[in-house]
Amino acid sequence: MEEKRLLYSKEVIDRRVKALAGAISLDLEGREVVLIGVLKGAFIFLADLARHLKIPHTVDFVRLASYGSGSVSSGNITFSKDIETDIEGKDVVIVEDIIDTGTSIAFLQKKLEERHPASIKICALIDKKQRREKTVNADYVGFALSEGFIVGYGLDFDEKFRCLPEIYVIKEGNCDHSV
Ligand code: IMP
Ligand code: MG
Repeated sequence: MEEKRLLYSKEVIDRRVKALAGAISLDLEGREVVLIGVLKGAFIFLADLARHLKIPHTVDFVRLASYGSGSVSSGNITFSKDIETDIEGKDVVIVEDIIDTGTSIAFLQKKLEERHPASIKICALIDKKQRREKTVNADYVGFALSEGFIVGYGLDFDEKFRCLPEIYVIKEGNCDHSV
């Protein structure tokens, strides 16, 4: 049996997502806002965040590919799916499930900056700091976590568990994929 421990309940997640949406709505009122979700992990978080926003906005997605295997991002990242929106002059909010080493988000931020948006903000459901390699300043963070591998609410382990309504911590390498 794999060990899976409840970390954040549905209610706790919902409360944080509403608070993040409230803060974004206040900060970016009157602006031309584009939410950019990072696939696949952010799809559920973005869906809930977008529905709690009180300001008009559009939605787009990127998917990043990182060469190399293992559970830590390698430095070599490319877009496997780019956005389709012209973000020049617009206020971008990157919506990410979890920041770990920071490699993915640092790459994405740099690439989007080259397209001259008015601003880029980072909204991460979870900021996991222990393995951080790149300096990343997230503007909106749902939960700060020091360590652990987590699943649920969009987050996967080997493509499993994304649709769990809650977030669980699992022991890496000790998981039989049962829910
Ligand atoms: P980074 O480039 O190291 O910051 O990688 C971030 C990406 O790694 C996230 O978008 C997730 O897809 C994945 N990741 C990092 N930690 C976890 C975790 O605890 N659970 C599930 N996915 C994770
Ligand atoms: Mg991700």
